[in-house]
Amino acid sequence: MSTLPRFSPLLGAARVIPVLTLETVEEAVPLAEALRDGGITVIEVTLRTKAALKACEAIAKHCTGVVLGIGTVLVPSQVKEAKDAGAQFLVTPGTSEKLGLAVAESGLAALPGAATVSEMVALMEMGFHELKFFPAEAAGGINYLKSVAGPLAELKFCPTGGISAANANAYLALGNVMCVGGSWITPKAAVDAKNWAEITRLAAEAAKLG
Ligand code: 3PG
Repeated sequence: MSTLPRFSPLLGAARVIPVLTLETVEEAVPLAEALRDGGITVIEVTLRTKAALKACEAIAKHCTGVVLGIGTVLVPSQVKEAKDAGAQFLVTPGTSEKLGLAVAESGLAALPGAATVSEMVALMEMGFHELKFFPAEAAGGINYLKSVAGPLAELKFCPTGGISAANANAYLALGNVMCVGGSWITPKAAVDAKNWAEITRLAAEAAKLG
């Protein structure tokens, strides 16, 4: 399975992926458009809410210029649901063998999650070379990624979990980091207040990182 679709072509020049947990379908399109207008075009919507799949469908249908990833994919049945909802790539926080196979068979690009060297090696065996490193800060952060760069030289990572404007550039400076992800660009208070101008401002700041 060495010919799995790669994630990085979807990423293009983007270096920051906001991780969105959407409480309502209504907020999905204006939020994704506010991010895009600030220069953030690749997003991950997590499957952590009841509204998530419908919200993804709305983004896939209405938001031009947005690359939609669906994350917090935990079980194989969610792979099909995510694909049907319009996912262009899949993200998992961690990856069992069953889940990894389902993702590999989906035909979609993916960032399967791993936090240990053994998990990373298992994903390499399946043909994945671009991984989510989660939870990045708690699992060892920048020093951990530097340590695995030697033995796991062919892997590239999207660290997520505990990343913010304060530490994103330090991650992005590493040779084995292709992008970072996080929720800091879409603070709940701004989303709840429908303060799309603030989201666009934060996105424009994030788009300058790296
Ligand atoms: C994720 O699913 O990637 C994380 O929940 C995002 O982590 P953060 O909230 O610490 O940015």
